[in-house]
Amino acid sequence: MNIISLILCLVVLTLLFPLPSNSADPDPLQDFCVADLSASEAVNGFPCKPVSKATSDDFFFDGLSKKGNTSNVFGAKVTSANVLTFPGLNTLGLSMNRVDFARGGLNPPHWHPRASESGVVIKGKLLVGFVTTRNVYYSKVLSAGQMFVIPRGLVHFQLNVGEGKALAFTAFNSHLPGSAVLPLNLFASTPLVPDQVLTKAFQVDEDVINGIRSKFGV
Ligand code: GLV
Ligand code: MN
Repeated sequence: MNIISLILCLVVLTLLFPLPSNSADPDPLQDFCVADLSASEAVNGFPCKPVSKATSDDFFFDGLSKKGNTSNVFGAKVTSANVLTFPGLNTLGLSMNRVDFARGGLNPPHWHPRASESGVVIKGKLLVGFVTTRNVYYSKVLSAGQMFVIPRGLVHFQLNVGEGKALAFTAFNSHLPGSAVLPLNLFASTPLVPDQVLTKAFQVDEDVINGIRSKFGV
């Protein structure tokens, strides 16, 4: 095999079997790309506003300093600092949430299609759990200063098991991890998932499905 054929082989192999990457979002190709949210969404992320128009304010965000309102059926509130609320994150492959919990509050089972999650408990006591694609459940009760990690795409939750309120901050390796909240996905979608699907999937009668839907105002 001559040197040209060898190089060709290497190029083909590299294309067929790219090196594994741990990042969820692609790497940026410039220092920054503050999202122009008024532009229509491009194929993968948002267009950048002109560099000359970037200001210090584009790189700072105080939305996570405010306590979330936990007066809802779950008793928990997720406040997101992602590209939609903090456009300076555009293309940087990261974002954060603040999660406030009332006493007994639950951040209900959900999953993030585009990111792994790590989190730290700031206040209170949380039962943090996730379930693998083989239906294995992992969990632990954490208190202030303790961390957790949720592998990308796995269903997880946090339940406040302490005596008072709780607070956690979470971080993601995507500027827009997405969050599919299972109870809302299945019971409060638009249009509704057909009763036939839900009664069969959960092996219950229609009354049970309607009872669950009514809790979500459906
Ligand atoms: C917690 O699970 C979060 O998504 O912030
Ligand atoms: Mn999550």
